[in-house]
Amino acid sequence: MALGSRLSRLSTFRRKVLAAGAVLALTFGIAVETTAVSHAAVTGPCDIYASGGTPCVAAHSTTRALYGSYNGSLYQVRRASDSATANIGVLSAGGYANAAAQDSFCANTSCVITVIYDQSGRGNNLTDAPAGGAAGGPDNLANAYAAPTVLNGHKAYGVYVAAGTGYRNDHTNGIATGDNAEGEYAVFDGTHYNGGCCFDYGNAETNNNDDGNGTMEAIYFGNIKVWGYGSGNGPWIMADMENGLYSGQNAGYNANDPTINYRYTTAIIKGTANKWAIRGGNAQSGGLSTFYSGPRPNVSGYNPMRKQGAIILGIGGDNSKGSAGTFYEGVMTSGYPSDATENSVQANIVAAGYSSGSSSGGLTPGSRISVRATTSCCTSDYLRHDDADTKAVISAISSSSSATDKADATWIVRAGLADSSCVSFESANDSGQFLRHYNYELYIAANDGSSVFAQDATFCPKAGNSGQGTSFQSVNYNTKYIRHFNYTAYIASNGGSNAWDSTTSWADDTSWVVSTPWA
Ligand code: AHR
Ligand code: AHR
Repeated sequence: MALGSRLSRLSTFRRKVLAAGAVLALTFGIAVETTAVSHAAVTGPCDIYASGGTPCVAAHSTTRALYGSYNGSLYQVRRASDSATANIGVLSAGGYANAAAQDSFCANTSCVITVIYDQSGRGNNLTDAPAGGAAGGPDNLANAYAAPTVLNGHKAYGVYVAAGTGYRNDHTNGIATGDNAEGEYAVFDGTHYNGGCCFDYGNAETNNNDDGNGTMEAIYFGNIKVWGYGSGNGPWIMADMENGLYSGQNAGYNANDPTINYRYTTAIIKGTANKWAIRGGNAQSGGLSTFYSGPRPNVSGYNPMRKQGAIILGIGGDNSKGSAGTFYEGVMTSGYPSDATENSVQANIVAAGYSSGSSSGGLTPGSRISVRATTSCCTSDYLRHDDADTKAVISAISSSSSATDKADATWIVRAGLADSSCVSFESANDSGQFLRHYNYELYIAANDGSSVFAQDATFCPKAGNSGQGTSFQSVNYNTKYIRHFNYTAYIASNGGSNAWDSTTSWADDTSWVVSTPWA
């Protein structure tokens, strides 16, 4: 037997063993997590749904393969410089996104996400949403750099939906229609949401219009209270069934649907004949809770449902696009998944090891650091405050620099004033003065105790946008990072309305090397 076919027989055998393991795991409840953890690299959420008899008919992710055998493209990016596109695949079959491929293709320009490929083989790709009944189009495409994340140590990018951004597929294959059963899950950034309509992922109208009650069945995430809401201030997971975001059986307040805002939140909606459910949990640990399971709303049009089977992301059924959120992965199934199947999927998501990658490497509160620029112009330059004024700038510092210059280029790391998982930078020689942005320019200023100050002075360390060093993301403007531009320091997005948002050298200008302190 040729080596190739022996290998493929082996891997087929291995898949069968794993599938058997998953079934056993389902039987013995608690074992689920262990099983999924040890086999995360070869078992994806869609393998689990298939074992449960409710296969995926759409599977979307920019961060990882959702089948153990998936070895194709996850998404496509388009760069601004020449409008060329590139497909971003996985590092290995069943593995994580090849973020480095995006980084090299998009170097020195900006990129948007043009296609989110369907991994199910049904061709249910998501592309730019067209105009709809509520808003014109085509919608905006997501900035490919705006939602960096890490999965088990591997950098990846999510889909950052700002108001105006939207994806859709009106010509699908295999998605539930009418009153047929389906399941849907998605992993969102639970801290990125708003009260606009409607950050959805799931089943919607094929003509981009509001076709009346029961013509959609999508997961909604956010804190709009127009139709329904739950306990606390939100955000909530609700079902968008058209002309209503439902937090329980009836419109309005449903106490059992809690505020859920884990940094990585698993959200589930599923529906079948006169029955539907809301479930959710922390995508980084633990299991799922059921927030509603019961009959359809007591309002005409929802029983039976009249699902049309399009797929939307980031918008409402009629292309309402006032909403915001971040999507990392999600699927739609054929059939109503069991809770046990979903619990096993949740264990698989936890095992994928999502983290914000605040690799505060060397950034221990209390430590002193200097921060060196990496752009080729400026590799001897350090982030410092300027004695002529209160601005922050970069300038060359060396062992022969004056003691004042060295101290100006030295910072004491503090736990982030607005978020202790991030950091703030206190001047080493101006005690109580912190690096903060104001009108998107960086200054040192005394902490006035306000929450705006705390936010303006808090930065979350991320893997360097250029692939080198560390980038410092503004906690209150999370598409913006500390950048030098003409030797002055700012917070800047990769493309935007300020001169310093220029895409040229953005990745290099926002990537810094944390160094031994000069003072
Ligand atoms: O159901 C809530 C929203 O109402 C839908 O997403 C949209 O189509 C309509 O405006
Ligand atoms: O730097 C941007 C914003 O400008 C800050 O959040 C605020 O302090 C100022 O209005």
